[in-house]
Amino acid sequence: MSFVNRKFVSQIYIILTTLKPILVTAALPYANGPVHIGHLAGCYIPADVFVRYKRLIGEDVKFICGSDEHGVPITLKAKAEGITPQQVVDKYHGMMKQSFADFGISFDIYSRTSSTLHHQTAADFFKVLYEKGAFTEKTTLQFYDKQAGQFLADRYIEGTCPKCGNERAYGDQCESCGTSLNPTDLINPKSKLSGNTPIQKETKHWFLPLNDYTSWLKHYILEGHKDDWKPNVYGQCKSWLEAGDGLQPRAMTRDLDWGVPVPVAGAEGKVLYVWFDAPIGYISATKELLPDSWERYWKGDARLIHFIGKDNIVFHCIIFPSILHAHGDYVVPENVPANEFLNLEGDKISTSRNWAVWLHEYLNDFPNKQDVLRYALIATAPETKDNDFTWKDFQARNNNELVAVLGNFVNRTLVLAGNYYNHVTPGITHLHDSDRELLGILKHSLHQIGESISKYRLREALALMMDVARAGNKYLADHEPWKLVKSDAARTQTVMQVALEATALLAYAMEPFLPHTAAKLRSMMNLTEASWHHIKVCDLVPAGHAMNAPSLLFDKIEDEAIQKQIDRLQATKAAQQALTEAATGHTALKAETTFDDFSKMDIRIGTILEAERVPKTDKLLKLLIDTGIDKRTVVSGIAGSFSPEEIIGQQVTLLANLAPRKIKGIESQGMILMTEDANGKLVFVSPSEYVPNGKDVR
Ligand code: 2FM
Ligand code: ZN
Repeated sequence: MSFVNRKFVSQIYIILTTLKPILVTAALPYANGPVHIGHLAGCYIPADVFVRYKRLIGEDVKFICGSDEHGVPITLKAKAEGITPQQVVDKYHGMMKQSFADFGISFDIYSRTSSTLHHQTAADFFKVLYEKGAFTEKTTLQFYDKQAGQFLADRYIEGTCPKCGNERAYGDQCESCGTSLNPTDLINPKSKLSGNTPIQKETKHWFLPLNDYTSWLKHYILEGHKDDWKPNVYGQCKSWLEAGDGLQPRAMTRDLDWGVPVPVAGAEGKVLYVWFDAPIGYISATKELLPDSWERYWKGDARLIHFIGKDNIVFHCIIFPSILHAHGDYVVPENVPANEFLNLEGDKISTSRNWAVWLHEYLNDFPNKQDVLRYALIATAPETKDNDFTWKDFQARNNNELVAVLGNFVNRTLVLAGNYYNHVTPGITHLHDSDRELLGILKHSLHQIGESISKYRLREALALMMDVARAGNKYLADHEPWKLVKSDAARTQTVMQVALEATALLAYAMEPFLPHTAAKLRSMMNLTEASWHHIKVCDLVPAGHAMNAPSLLFDKIEDEAIQKQIDRLQATKAAQQALTEAATGHTALKAETTFDDFSKMDIRIGTILEAERVPKTDKLLKLLIDTGIDKRTVVSGIAGSFSPEEIIGQQVTLLANLAPRKIKGIESQGMILMTEDANGKLVFVSPSEYVPNGKDVR
């Protein structure tokens, strides 16, 4: 095919693709707690940026979400709070919906899976598969807690993952390695209800024989999406599909009293597996939104895109597509752009440990700064690997980027335009090359930003938007209109007009990322909403366009506000540690360290040669220690437990490269390691048999 033809064909392809209806879903969060930054960064902000962009280029897109109100996470929460599952979901559904709205997550619908429409839709879906013979009915042994009188499905049971050794894998999934499990796969299973080792008891369930779908899944994913799925998603699917033991049949029903009742005879007291009903929640919510045209987004040439976090990959890439395929009437996902996890200040975000930044609390502390958080979360999005949110980074992103780059450019331009032209755009007199250069950047920027968003590279897209503001700042610095205005009115006019074009372009370019700020800037510049296709650089704010008085888009976040957040987290950690200490009688485990950090410590065996009391102290002894490489002085707080005479010749473990410090005027060159016996008496940590001095401890 000639170049011209190929280009023509690819344009036709683009036109046809852009005409197709797109359904974007964001994982239905369990309605068992408020929303935190990990949720936002994992899938809601990425999905929102993507959808806002698609709307801006005029595509036919719908954005679907809602609360996942079934499953063990809900019943466990009800037990913990001493209320009913219905009360749990009623309490959190409204709160979650509000948080998403506050942060500008622009769902077309935020529904819930306890709705009658959803129960009906999920039950009907199950019946279709049942009648097609898609399930295998099997009676098997399942774990049962005798004390609680209950079968232990999914998160009611925890144990060691047979694949990766994670000791807190759930009965249906290991969140550490992402593998989907059956409860009986767990090593050393324990009931979450009583803590007991469960017994096994027979029960009947309906299994989806995932093994029968392996070759179809290989064709669909491994051949069909090698180039367009993110490597983290594709790689996980590949490893499951090519694993030696392959995919296993998976029960689609559960012995629980909370969920969608299984709609077939002989299944009384059983409900649908939450991972069967929840993804069908995407369909029910679409039906609720568009009772007459929902099928347009699920059938025919519809494009289905699921935004999720990495713990949901197996369900959206393997199980739900198999369910949709088994039904036969639906499209399967075109893409599943899963993010990895966001950590907080170096630790995994955890609801139970209250190690999180909750959105409603953030808004109390930083009112009207939703976009700052959106910005920080997009800039540090865990797109390809886990990433860390820190308050210092958040502050730096605000102060050094939003305030110093984006806000600064916009503010300088609008204030100068106010001063020189009374907020009315002056128009271009004559363009120089340097003006054309900036206008050239503007002309390409929306297209480039859009390309990156289309490829799910949102960090890159955000950086491209900021590059426009950087180019704008450089342009102002190079041309110095505040000086030029004194000598050359015509030239100043052009420079200001070009800068105003850049400011207006930014008002549109920032829309997917910073929707609240975009609306504010549009209002300041008196701009209407516009499709990106209709944006013509040099015509955004034609000469004579009247604007409103500007105000700052962003303001500096001071150290105190950040310190308050850090203090709160430290207090949380201290409270958790106190709880652990109270429960175990031991100090809580410190935060994880790296092998590299550990190996920086030089720990050696030595022998005490001399010991004497440090005058005017009760606790301190001055020791002379033979380290095998030198003889050095160490001051140690052990005088309460030992007399100097009794420890001569004692072998000790010494932290030998601790920076020397003066204690009571004596330079101490290291620290000896001690522990306590059951009565609180100090005990030396020393080798169980003689070891030559200087041997290192690893
Ligand atoms: O992990 C979760 O929070 C699940 N509730 C996600 C469900 S996504 C979809 F399938 F509904
Ligand atoms: Zn695992």
